[in-house]
Amino acid sequence: MKKLLALTLALLFTVAAFAGCADKPASNSDAPVAQYKGQYDVLKMGTNAAFPPYEYKDGSNFVGIDVEIADAIAKELGATLEIVDMEFDSIITAVEQGEVSFGMAGMTVTDERKEQVDFSASYATGVQSVIVAENSEIATLDDLSGKKIGVQLGTTGDIYSCDDFGEENVTKFAKGADAVLALKGGDVDAVIIDNEPAKSFVAANEGLKILDTDYAIEDYAIAIKKGNTDLLDDINAALEKLTADGTVDNIIAKYIKAE
Ligand code: ARG
Repeated sequence: MKKLLALTLALLFTVAAFAGCADKPASNSDAPVAQYKGQYDVLKMGTNAAFPPYEYKDGSNFVGIDVEIADAIAKELGATLEIVDMEFDSIITAVEQGEVSFGMAGMTVTDERKEQVDFSASYATGVQSVIVAENSEIATLDDLSGKKIGVQLGTTGDIYSCDDFGEENVTKFAKGADAVLALKGGDVDAVIIDNEPAKSFVAANEGLKILDTDYAIEDYAIAIKKGNTDLLDDINAALEKLTADGTVDNIIAKYIKAE
């Protein structure tokens, strides 16, 4: 039955494509290309839009590197992108339960997460950095021991700092920006978070700086429900195309200015 439906759809699509071809050949570039395995109407992206420059809100609009790359992927696959904003900590579960088509949130590939979801090819590198007050006595990673560290709940910054400095020293916040506010207020001594958000939080708040030493280097990728291999393959193929034609680099360059 499913096959029949797919076949009918494919046939309809071909007819529509040819019909379009007759008068407006160029219009076909917007349609999904036969090289993809699935047919998608709407793709739902689970994210946590409090993580500039990857995903954040500009007024009521979702913007950022991930939002634009996801939008380009959706277009490439002939779909409309819908953003579902949630706690970072809920994204993997939402992917596992099929509430969203994929998760994209500056999300680091880790072995533990790989047991829960599949990851696309990586589209960016992330670095965990340490934010401290400008006049802080903390100058190196070693100085962090015994200090109060703020993190965003469920992030790799959270996981690594609990491992390295002890859970009792780590305060977990729903948003990175809340951790930064706690740092400003003196409730924590340092914040461990991805470097690009760190830069944007430091730029937006006076009296803070980022340590020169990187805490960890990681790969960002898109999380997809296990077993959903058509979508995984299609996202990877679209990502490959958008990387080869410069779209991904252009999007990144728009949000991250070379230093
Ligand atoms: N890269 C880190 C991780 O995967 C942090 C990502 C947080 N992303 C967000 N949109 N809040 O754990």
